[in-house]
Amino acid sequence: MKTALKSHNCGQITAKNIGEEVTLSGWVACVRDLGGIIFVELRDRTGFFQLVADPQVNPEIHEVFSKLKTESVINIKGKVTERPEETYNDKLPTGEVETYPTFAQVLSEAKTLPFVLDDENVSEDVRLKYRYLDLRRENMLHNMTLRHKIVTAVRNYLNGEDFLEVETPILIKTTPEGARDYLVPSRVQEGKFYALPQSPQIFKQLLMVGGFERYYQIAKCFRDEDLRADRQPEFTQIDMEMSFVDQDNVIEVTEGVVQAAFKEAGIDVKPPFKRITWQEAMDKYGSDKPDTRFGLELFDIGDIILESNFDIVKNTLLNGGIVRGIKIEGGAKYSRKDIDDITKLAVFFGAKALANIIYQEDGTAKSPVLKFVTEEQAKAIQERAQAKAGDIIFFVADKPKLVYDVMGRLRLHFGKALNLINEDDNALLWVVDFPMFEWSDEENRFMAMHHPFTSPNLEDLDKLDSGDLGNVKSIAYDIVYNGTELGGGSVRIHSPEVQKKIFKALGLTEEEATEKFGFMVNALQYGTPPHAGLAIGLDRLVALLCRTESIRDVIAFPKNSGAKCLMSDAPGEASLQQMRELHLKSTVKPH
Ligand code: AMO
Ligand code: AMP
Repeated sequence: MKTALKSHNCGQITAKNIGEEVTLSGWVACVRDLGGIIFVELRDRTGFFQLVADPQVNPEIHEVFSKLKTESVINIKGKVTERPEETYNDKLPTGEVETYPTFAQVLSEAKTLPFVLDDENVSEDVRLKYRYLDLRRENMLHNMTLRHKIVTAVRNYLNGEDFLEVETPILIKTTPEGARDYLVPSRVQEGKFYALPQSPQIFKQLLMVGGFERYYQIAKCFRDEDLRADRQPEFTQIDMEMSFVDQDNVIEVTEGVVQAAFKEAGIDVKPPFKRITWQEAMDKYGSDKPDTRFGLELFDIGDIILESNFDIVKNTLLNGGIVRGIKIEGGAKYSRKDIDDITKLAVFFGAKALANIIYQEDGTAKSPVLKFVTEEQAKAIQERAQAKAGDIIFFVADKPKLVYDVMGRLRLHFGKALNLINEDDNALLWVVDFPMFEWSDEENRFMAMHHPFTSPNLEDLDKLDSGDLGNVKSIAYDIVYNGTELGGGSVRIHSPEVQKKIFKALGLTEEEATEKFGFMVNALQYGTPPHAGLAIGLDRLVALLCRTESIRDVIAFPKNSGAKCLMSDAPGEASLQQMRELHLKSTVKPH
């Protein structure tokens, strides 16, 4: 689009524009003075264009350019000319053309920047403090552009499937379960607080009660949790909910969304994606978000150990524990120090001990645990591990959660360390049949593994009544990409009775459940369609498609690991006046 200060975009001027008068505006990416002739690289969102000032040709412009500061914003007019052929720049689409401006003005002079934009060694803190400058980097522009394209493709796809985009409130009531809420004190209602939504979960279900049948939203979510590279306190979900559907229907729509998003990144993925059960994921990979770009599947040797004299491990197994092993081909060559280091890593991951058996080249086995097992049992272990001479196996016995966690992380470590991961692979898979509940040692009670509105497997309803909560499965599903949880969802409870049972199982009294979720249970009593949904973490999706580790790289203004915005310095202090209006007492001394 032509504007007052731009007739063309810098990056789009090519040989076909030769002879045209152009008006350009942008940033001074670099200024080079070569023997009196000044070359300016002008940059806008679309790319670079070369400007030339020669004291013999355009002396007034030479005067302006001789004082130019890089990153200043300028505006020029000139005729597009062909560069001398020997100065063509093949790296730029505009590399065959340039202009000797006949007019130039500085619209805004830049101070010296606090860092050189393309310097790879600048700390992220500095970049975040001056994020508006960091955004000028090509990489950030690329990431944010891909994000925009993905959101557009997702919207187009869902609009084509008859979804309605509906906004849900940001100031809501605090809900237990899940992560910690961000609270907002109410001025009008003294002593009361809003919470910021951790997700639109309840509202999207109520939209189903409201008869909308198919909802989506590119939704902001807020969670006050410990931050990591793939977690931000505020993040965005592609949030969906559908009525009169089952798990397969939601999976099918999600696969369409994912396929459309990947296409924007030039990756062609073909649904249906593989599905595995949660139990299989844990047993084979020690993780509910397995990276299936490589093998190294875990194996179970519990039955063999139970027959042996390996008493410590046997006792663990007899007390509800499990044992899982991993085989590393060619690992018999590991030195004692290598094995010590791997053991230390396992201990760092939480193991109390890591056992190993080396299958030596001469066909014999070597291990401190051989004193507890017969030759036959050692052979059976070798067969189970499918280990050959020259391999090593490691195993851990403990409570299931710990064993899965340690062995899953050890598997990932070996996958990376042994270069088993092909970075070009796109391993998308569904993990299904999650347990409904997960025991929390901290809270000393069962918690919802997904959330309390997830439907238990209807065949397991009697287990709810008998209190066998550990064995209740849910109709929940996660989509996993190269070892990262991209999204998750479930079929929801649409019966008030079942919903009440779940609240009870979670340890909420009837009064508490009514207090917290009364409106939800009420709504279920007025004709609720069976419904189900899912949410994809948009930031994670974009980060993975940009092949970057951190979701901060795909968010324009992210927070750092201390949940601070280094640019604006949020969170900041509130004045005593503001505190008073909000009926809050400060425990911090006023400044
Ligand atoms: P869940 O809590 O699994 O499900 O969230 C869905 C997806 O959101 C992303 N995600 C995050 N991304 C960045 N920073 C965070 N702190 C963060 N937390 C979660 C993940 C995750 O898979 N209401 C349900 C969905 C449903 O049942 O429909 C929900 O929020 O990619
Ligand atoms: P020792 O201490 O020499 O009697 O041998 C005990 C062996 O059992 C060591 O190799 C330990 O690594 C191993 N071991 C002990 N507890 C566990 C466990 N929970 N999981 C795996 N191996 C174990």
